[in-house]
Amino acid sequence: MKLNTLAAATLLACLTLGAQAAAPIEPTGRWTANAQGSASLPPMGWNSWNAFFLEVDEEKVLGSARKLVDSGLAKLGYVYVNIDDGWWSHRDTRSGRMVIKTSIFPSARREGKDTSFRPLTDRIHAMGLKAGIYTDIGYHSCGQAFSSNAEFLPKGTQAEKRIGLEGHTDQDIQTYFADWGFDFIKVDACGLSSFAPDSDNVLKKGYTPLAPLIWRGTPNLSNVAAVRGRYQAVADALAKYRPQGDYLLSLCAWGMADVRSWGKEIGNTSRTSDDIMPVWGRMLHNLDSTSKRALYAHPGSWNDPDMLFVGHGDFDQHHLTEARSHFALWAMLNAPLIIGYDLRNAPPALMDIFGNAAIVALNQDAGGHQATLGYDSNDAQIYVKSLADPSKKAVLLLNRGTADLKVTLLAEHLKLDPAQPVTLRNLWTGESSVFTGKSVYQLKAHESLVFEVSGTRLLRNGVYLSEIPGLINVAADGVRQPEIDPVAHRAIQPWEGTLSGGERPLYTGWGGAQVDATPYDQNLQLNGATYRTGIGILDGSRMEVKNDQRYRRFSATVGVVDSTRNMQGSAQFEIYGDGRLLARSKALKFRDAPQQLAVDTAGVKVLELVARPLSRTSDLPVLLGWADAALTDPVK
Ligand code: GAL
Repeated sequence: MKLNTLAAATLLACLTLGAQAAAPIEPTGRWTANAQGSASLPPMGWNSWNAFFLEVDEEKVLGSARKLVDSGLAKLGYVYVNIDDGWWSHRDTRSGRMVIKTSIFPSARREGKDTSFRPLTDRIHAMGLKAGIYTDIGYHSCGQAFSSNAEFLPKGTQAEKRIGLEGHTDQDIQTYFADWGFDFIKVDACGLSSFAPDSDNVLKKGYTPLAPLIWRGTPNLSNVAAVRGRYQAVADALAKYRPQGDYLLSLCAWGMADVRSWGKEIGNTSRTSDDIMPVWGRMLHNLDSTSKRALYAHPGSWNDPDMLFVGHGDFDQHHLTEARSHFALWAMLNAPLIIGYDLRNAPPALMDIFGNAAIVALNQDAGGHQATLGYDSNDAQIYVKSLADPSKKAVLLLNRGTADLKVTLLAEHLKLDPAQPVTLRNLWTGESSVFTGKSVYQLKAHESLVFEVSGTRLLRNGVYLSEIPGLINVAADGVRQPEIDPVAHRAIQPWEGTLSGGERPLYTGWGGAQVDATPYDQNLQLNGATYRTGIGILDGSRMEVKNDQRYRRFSATVGVVDSTRNMQGSAQFEIYGDGRLLARSKALKFRDAPQQLAVDTAGVKVLELVARPLSRTSDLPVLLGWADAALTDPVK
């Protein structure tokens, strides 16, 4: 793309803003994570896109809705029935109201009146389900950006084709939620990225230009504040028209515009990557974009690696190994479980996957802890998920590759005592088994095994912070300049093949807080000693930990990690309980002996862990470890 005058102006605006100011590290004494909307658990349901793309219609939507109810999937929690791109006719330029394409949604036609989805949402609600709608944050949708098939796209004048929220946020949210009765909205972002004044979309297709605020894969040029501001306006309008909070806001900025750092403040779910495709490598790509972000998900706001593609391509009924792996991984990551298959014709083998109550229960576990990696490599991974029941966990062993693989599970991967028996229940077969210390498995290509486990916790009288990511809010992670995460699987983009120069890493988030590793995926090593557990974070950070008066003691071994980028600067660790300073470390720098901190947390609701930069010798961050960080001595 050429840098034209308008785009250059955007660039200038970004440069003037400079790197995003770090969020404040001063304690607030409160849990400040997003509490708006209704997402105490990851949403579950169905969406038209992966099943039909732009060719959505009323019968397809209602048919899948009926199947959710008749098959019992709705009872398991699959309640959202979401219409994606393709539903719109045009915008009425006199009233500004959106007009529904009644040729595909006949029930929206009202003689002598404007169109309405109310009859459809009434029917969906009458089935005990909830209804979702799709829009874009700019003037135009992704269908308009990428499809050339006019049959499925809005028609009319240039102004009539402006179907996105730009300039209409309040009005559209009122229409969709107050008038039409929707419960869920997915807000896409092509309008902010694909309609540059010099783009084909503008010059050849005649769409309205908008100087890009999102530059895919080029975070320095994206105008993070402007993108965030637009999404915030959607959140505000939702709160206005649904003051009871009975709605769900799904952000679809595909991991761009540094959404990792702010999406959790605004949305109930936030896409971490570009679109999933029914291709194994692409599923890995989306998986990787979420799997290291456990500390950025908690009840109220979840990471979204995109909708399920179970039923298609590499995940169809002839590839049940892959289909099960994809599904179980999404469940473990607390991803939205949104089916993207034409359920009207779903074979029993696929319905059995969606309907595996034990695996759905992992996703819907009240603890709200996204799985973390007990073992990580490009070949095998071991995902471990804490459950609300402290005596249980879930584990998933994954063979990412195309050859058989031996995977050894250690009790330590699970943070369980290696000297005590560990009981496993295979959640696909129901079979139970027991091991002590370690257990060896032979996994076929793309196979995963998923178990519920119980054993004796390594930390008998409490929890490591790395075991409870759902109770942690990274209020400030110290990232000064958004950096692109280089470790996600770089699958060939199915829609582009090898036509480009290669698959470049795309999504910011590198340098964010990590469990059991540094922010750059190194060992948590402090002055020569490696710690298997803890939180790695940058200086200039603050984490909120929900204690809710449960544990009476917090302790950690703190210091600068040996792989720090800044070897001169120093930082000070501070611990606050409900806003009150409980402990402060001395100034610590590279190669200093780590310091033990322990505080009394009896009665504390919110613990805050602050890493205050002291002497900043350069812009490079000081990498820090809260090693062995744990809450212990539970109130009986
Ligand atoms: C993409 C989005 C997909 C789908 C599609 C519709 O940007 O990621 O999930 O909504 O647009 O055109």
